[in-house]
Amino acid sequence: MITPDIRTFIEQAHCVVTGGAGFIGSNLVEELLQLKARKVVVLDDLSTGFQENIKEFQELENFEFVAGSITDYEVCTKTFEGADIVFQMAALGSVPRSIDNPGKTNAVNVTGFLNVLNAARMCKVKKVVYSSSSSVYGDDEHLPKVEHLTGNPLSPYAVTKKANELYARVFSEIYGMDIVGLRYFNVFGPKQSVKGPYAAVIPIFIENLLNKRTCYINGDGNISRDFTYVQNVVEANICAAYARFDNPDDRVLNVAMGEQLSLNDLYAILEEEIQSGLSPIHREPRLGDIQSSQADISKAKKLIGYQPKYPLKEGLIKTIEWNRNAVLNS
Ligand SMILES: NC(=O)c1ccc[n+]([C@@H]2O[C@H](COP(=O)([O-])OP(=O)(O)OC[C@H]3O[C@@H](n4cnc5c(N)ncnc54)[C@H](O)[C@@H]3O)[C@@H](O)[C@H]2O)c1
Repeated sequence: MITPDIRTFIEQAHCVVTGGAGFIGSNLVEELLQLKARKVVVLDDLSTGFQENIKEFQELENFEFVAGSITDYEVCTKTFEGADIVFQMAALGSVPRSIDNPGKTNAVNVTGFLNVLNAARMCKVKKVVYSSSSSVYGDDEHLPKVEHLTGNPLSPYAVTKKANELYARVFSEIYGMDIVGLRYFNVFGPKQSVKGPYAAVIPIFIENLLNKRTCYINGDGNISRDFTYVQNVVEANICAAYARFDNPDDRVLNVAMGEQLSLNDLYAILEEEIQSGLSPIHREPRLGDIQSSQADISKAKKLIGYQPKYPLKEGLIKTIEWNRNAVLNS
């Protein structure tokens, strides 16, 4: 929950959002600007993000866009000069993308991530909040997922996120840096891209149903995910930036709704709202997909005051509305 103290903290902060032209990053930028942050700088190479996502902020005096890659250390140090907080969102997402091209995913997600930490250290940035992922739970079968019980990663993408957590912990311990990682679980909402072969299930289903096209469900549709509305993730980032941590084990937190929804039930909710009249077609399960995922979010609630205030259905309705308007305005 964003308290008056957190508002004051953000008003005084110079923030950098790497990957700020992407889905989650641009939603975070919007909230930081609404909270009147002193300065908000986006560093993004637009590889999977869009200028369109940040177009509405370009004229604001306290906003700046830097076109560049986190794989370029000089760009990172230049961009982080004077920053109080770095929100590290830039990465190549998607498990299938990492299976198709593990080298490219590693270059951005590991080498780029290391540049961000190093540059933050050199620039004496006070806080780094980075994006980890539920993929680090890998083959561990405990449900709900608790932070200390992780298994073996099941994809190159998961390896990169695990490596991020290891580097972050070492940087905190050796250099005394204030770094916290948030493990997101299947985030959805406005500005999530539907383009390309690696798009996520919710924007694909919404786009197909709005355009009266059949949706394909991989497998029998009973696999479930802890789908999380993006505004909840945005608030978690801001609360984490403000929070103080005494124990190194507390520096990685689950951020999710804390509930499970199957793909069949997801489809049913979307269809009830959109009324396309179409039935889904089931096809072969996808390589690397785990059966169920659900987070225990008690640690984030206790340590950073996280409260997922947007319920799943409300988030889905807002996302459908956004997609409807995006079609009308395109
Ligand atoms: N969306 C989810 O469900 C989810 C779940 C778990 C973790 N995450 C993590 O959250 C973060 C944000 O994800 P998202 O869903 O908004 O993805 P996104 O692809 O929409 O955003 C990522 C942004 O990073 C930028 N980027 C990529 N490589 C870059 C580079 N080398 N230098 C600078 N910018 C670069 C892209 O252009 C894009 O704007 C990522 O770290 C992702 O791994 C997302």
